[in-house]
Formats: sequence, structure tokens, C-alpha cells
Amino acid sequence: MQNGFIQIYQRNADAICGELTAGLLASSAWISPKYLYDGLGSRLFAAICELPEYYPTRTEALIVEHYRSDIARSTGRGMTLIDLGAGNCEKAARLFPEIQPAHYVPIDISIDFLRESVESLRHRFPQVRMTGLGMDFSHSLDLPEAVPSQKRLFFYPGSSIGNFTPEEAVAFLGRMRDACRADGGLLIGVDLVKREDLLQDAYDDAIGLTAAFNLNLLQHLNHLLKADFRPRDWRHVSRFNARESRIELHLEARREVRVAWEGGSRHFAQGERIHTENSYKYTPERFLQMLERAGFGRVSRWIDPHGWFMLCHARAG
Ligand code: AVI
Repeated sequence: MQNGFIQIYQRNADAICGELTAGLLASSAWISPKYLYDGLGSRLFAAICELPEYYPTRTEALIVEHYRSDIARSTGRGMTLIDLGAGNCEKAARLFPEIQPAHYVPIDISIDFLRESVESLRHRFPQVRMTGLGMDFSHSLDLPEAVPSQKRLFFYPGSSIGNFTPEEAVAFLGRMRDACRADGGLLIGVDLVKREDLLQDAYDDAIGLTAAFNLNLLQHLNHLLKADFRPRDWRHVSRFNARESRIELHLEARREVRVAWEGGSRHFAQGERIHTENSYKYTPERFLQMLERAGFGRVSRWIDPHGWFMLCHARAG
């Protein structure tokens, strides 16, 4: 069995500083949500997934558990399972016994995040070929030759698609469609529109983990930009924007502050905000239209009894 790791993504410090500086100097300051995930940010997110208020992870897991064999019937067996943002590979591993992939391709920005999880999976599933890829899949899905082009099944769980704008999401879905032949497809998790109080609680939990996750972005900026943000000067704000059907995360200045970093500085008035994340919530109909616009064919879908979360299998052909 030929297994391996391929690191494609190379960090470009100048490009990162340029992107961050442009966001901080914009009239409404913003930072891409990908900067929420440094080492501590990734661990905080894993902890958020265990919170009673954060329903998406456990609801998606319940759907997978309950409809496991229907899902496998729909996707087929012996596919090349391409796991986007694989992390600890646990979500994909739960599908292995039913969908029996021939080849597993976990992708994350750095293969260092993948090494340990892939090694332990190899012991559990020695019959599955595994190739770990370190790449930024949000920009390009140009996969190396080691990934067979037939029978590709992209796996994008957790409603990470909700962190793109709808236009970006359709473009990204289209890139996945284009990276498949007619025998391929996509298994994707989508968070659905629901009561506003449930959404508010999920993104502003009682013990403050989401607040810590959001505020930790400032420590990450201090590291990347040599900036002098003081997290105590800021507070976590989450709000549901009904017009856009999205939860927004912001960091709001508690008092007037001046922040300096290598390559710039800015004054923030008390109450001024930095927009750090959007998490779009879709109706099933709207998301199915987006899959269609992206070029996918027939879709099978599974929804939990509360109607909170949807898992879709969209066929390429
Ligand atoms: C990764 N992503 C799907 C999460 C979400 O729900 O949008 C990130 C998150 N932000 C705050 N809590 C969780």
C-alpha cells in the first residue's frame, strides 16, 4: 500500500501582512476568519464543538449515525474520499466502515496537523490507502497526480461552507464539481435557518468559549504582525443579521484605543468594531439551488428531526 504526505502550501509572510493590514485599515475593519485558527484557536474551536449550545457538530454526527447506510448507498463504495479541512480526521473515520473508501486524502493547511491523526487511522484501517495533503484548498483544488481523478468524493462537513459568502460558496462548490468526473460527488454539511435565540446561544455561549475563540484572533495578529492589541480592550460581539441570514462575529473596542503594527497603525473609537466572521444559515431550498448553480446533478439529503442541519450528497454527473 503506497501512503504518504505532500506539503504544497508555502506560507508567504508578506502576502499575509498585506492582507491583514488592508483589512485593519478598511473604513469598516475586517479580518478573514481563517486567522481565528492558530494553535490555540484550533483547540478552542474543538472545545466549542463540545458545548451544549453549539448544536451543529452533534446534530451532523446524529444525522451520519442515523442514516449511515443510506449515505453509503448514495455515495457508493470504493471512492477516493477527499476530506477538506480534515483536522483530526474523526468525522471521515466515522464513515469508513460503511462507505469503505479505497483511498483517503485528508487535506489541511499543514501536514503537521494531519500526521498524527493519519498515522493512527492507518492502524485502524490498513486496507485504505492514505495520502495527506498540506494545501490551502480555498484558493485552488488542483490536486497532485497521487490523487486518482476517477471516483472522487469530496467531504466538506461542519457547515464550513457557511463561512464563505453565498457567491464565494457557489464558486467554491463549482471548483469541487470541476475537480470531479461524472462518477464523483460531494458530501457536505449545511447549517439551516432556525430560531434566532438558538443561533445567538450557539455563538455566545454561557462559559465564554466563543468569546475566547474570537478574542484569541488579536493574540494571533500580535504574533503575525508584531501588533500591540490588548485583548482586554476588546469584547466579543455576535449578532444575527436577518437580512443576510448570517451570524456575524465582531470584536468591539471597549474604550478608545490606538493599535500599532509593523507597517501601520489605527485609532479605534470606543464601540468601533472589527468584523471577524460570517456564518451563513440556509434554507434547504436555497442551498439546493446553489448546488445546482455550481453544476451538480441529483442530490440526496438528510435532515435531523428538529430541522436544524442538513447533510447532502450531490452527484457530479
Ligand atoms: C467552522 N465554522 C463552521 C464555525 C461556524 O459555526 O461558523 C466557526 C465558529 N465560529 C464560532 N463558533 C464556531
